[in-house]
Amino acid sequence: MSAFLCPSVPPASVLRNAIRHSRSVTSRSPPRHPYPSRISINNSYAVPNISEDSSSVPIDVVADVKTERIVVLGGTGFVGSAICKAAASKGIEVVSLSRWSGKPSYADPWVDQVTWKAGDVFYAPWDEILAGATAVVSTLGGFGNEEQMKQINGEANIVAVGAAKDHGVPKFVLISVHDYNLPSFLLSSGYFTGKRKAESEVLSKYPASGVVLRPALIYGKRKIDGFEIPLDLIGRPLERFLLAAENFTRPLNSIPGSDLLLSPPVSVDDVALAAINAVFYDNFFGVFTIEQIREAAAKLRS
Ligand SMILES: NC(=O)c1ccc[n+]([C@@H]2O[C@H](COP(=O)([O-])OP(=O)(O)OC[C@H]3O[C@@H](n4cnc5c(N)ncnc54)[C@H](OP(=O)(O)O)[C@@H]3O)[C@@H](O)[C@H]2O)c1
Repeated sequence: MSAFLCPSVPPASVLRNAIRHSRSVTSRSPPRHPYPSRISINNSYAVPNISEDSSSVPIDVVADVKTERIVVLGGTGFVGSAICKAAASKGIEVVSLSRWSGKPSYADPWVDQVTWKAGDVFYAPWDEILAGATAVVSTLGGFGNEEQMKQINGEANIVAVGAAKDHGVPKFVLISVHDYNLPSFLLSSGYFTGKRKAESEVLSKYPASGVVLRPALIYGKRKIDGFEIPLDLIGRPLERFLLAAENFTRPLNSIPGSDLLLSPPVSVDDVALAAINAVFYDNFFGVFTIEQIREAAAKLRS
């Protein structure tokens, strides 16, 4: 399935739209807005018997724009916490579900803006977690033995997609992985088979709104037990180098597995913004490559 990208929306037109949509927006018609629902504007108008300098009076226009409430599965993880942080900064209500940790151990202002739940996705109280959710963003995935990888990358996400669908959540965003043009015997590992099963589930249960992001290596500052591992020190220059060298390395792309060396890493902030872009815009669905993730992030930034 191909990816559908939303047009970029400049702030002024967003504001105009927000005012135009001043009645309750109940359908998920694109685009929905990450902007405050109360807008104050200056307006000039003619009123008899009032002195001239009162011609510019601030009035309040209440625009009852639908707010987003997202559930991030794995919100304490490396990618999940970046998504929670980005969502909170855009005024989205965020609920996170993670297995052991529940809430991050470090303090940061955005941490207090998220509702943290601890629990295993296989036994989650979905009625409570998904109540009122407008999207689920899943970062569930990881490594281990074959069975563990099939379970966390595949089954855990399949359970989550089913729960979201059953509870009427209109959008599901899955953080998956690039296939690195690996030979098929390597793609048959539990990690990749799990990922692709989860992708199929998202795309079949959400054919017109499901989103699959396929990043390669993700860099940023990974926090582990109070320590910060600055993966960006290597990731960022490597991304720049590989993007700049793309024209020269393209002929090598046909060599199986060459993507392991040649696919550019992507920043965790770009993955987070691409996920938020997916939450906001109904016309953003399908499978997104590394390059499309970067483009989607740039659109939300602009
Ligand atoms: N990092 C990369 O370079 C990279 C590259 C490409 C794709 N990806 C994909 O991106 C996703 C996120 O990666 P990440 O590096 O952020 O992983 P991570 O740091 O290990 O985060 C995974 C999160 O999922 C939670 N989790 C795991 N099993 C769960 C379960 N059964 N129920 C509830 N929560 C559960 C974990 O919570 P607990 O800690 O409490 O278990 C944690 O919060 C993964 O799907 C990964 O395959 C990552």
